[in-house]
Amino acid sequence: MFALLKADLHRNLRDYLPCGLLKRVVLCLTLNSIHAVVLIRFQQWCSRNHLPGIFASKILFWFFKIEIGKNVRIGPGLRLPHPMDIIIAPNSEVGPDCDLYAGVRLVLSHGNKQGPILARNVFMGDGAKAVGAINIGDHAIIGVSAVVTKDIPANATAVGIPAKVITLDNQRANESS
Ligand SMILES: CC(C)(COP(=O)(O)OP(=O)(O)OC[C@H]1O[C@@H](n2cnc3c(N)ncnc32)[C@H](O)[C@@H]1OP(=O)(O)O)[C@@H](O)C(=O)NCCC(=O)NCCS
Repeated sequence: MFALLKADLHRNLRDYLPCGLLKRVVLCLTLNSIHAVVLIRFQQWCSRNHLPGIFASKILFWFFKIEIGKNVRIGPGLRLPHPMDIIIAPNSEVGPDCDLYAGVRLVLSHGNKQGPILARNVFMGDGAKAVGAINIGDHAIIGVSAVVTKDIPANATAVGIPAKVITLDNQRANESS
């Protein structure tokens, strides 16, 4: 859990790294995005260790309206810039260095137990949704309010309902940590 948390904190504070230690500590104590990520890691640590993660999941839900299902795998460097109203269905995967904005949903399709799989450094914009056992490739950008129902290749930008690829060469790979 601590290795994951360290990577999360590093990525969430990356823009503030030139600031002093005191400022970074204050940010850790005040940034909602960091609080939400810490709670998610704690909830997942509890469930991996067969401990009741109910308090962490309740706090996540009450304060942030975030629900993370069972067996969700989340890689290091998670960032939730506006941590509100996010649902990740059971058996979904979020790769390393992903950004999930408010209102993101990774949900199961009817009769399917596998949730969406996000590869590395995927950006899910505000209100973006992915439905079913689909793969979203490395560095993909999913636009505001898009509904992704089919696989999205790496480095693609997809928008709309259902989401369609509008570019295949976004610059996100160059910006990733
Ligand atoms: C997907 C996104 C990255 C595309 O940005 P871009 O590469 O600069 O693309 P453009 O703005 O030039 O738009 C390209 C086309 O896609 C359309 N488009 C862009 N975003 C769209 C969206 N979310 N839904 C539907 N269509 C969209 C544009 O209307 C344009 O269509 P046109 O060619 O027919 O005029 C951007 O629109 C987006 O959604 N960013 C996420 C923002 C966000 O979630 N921020 C977090 C909260 S602060």
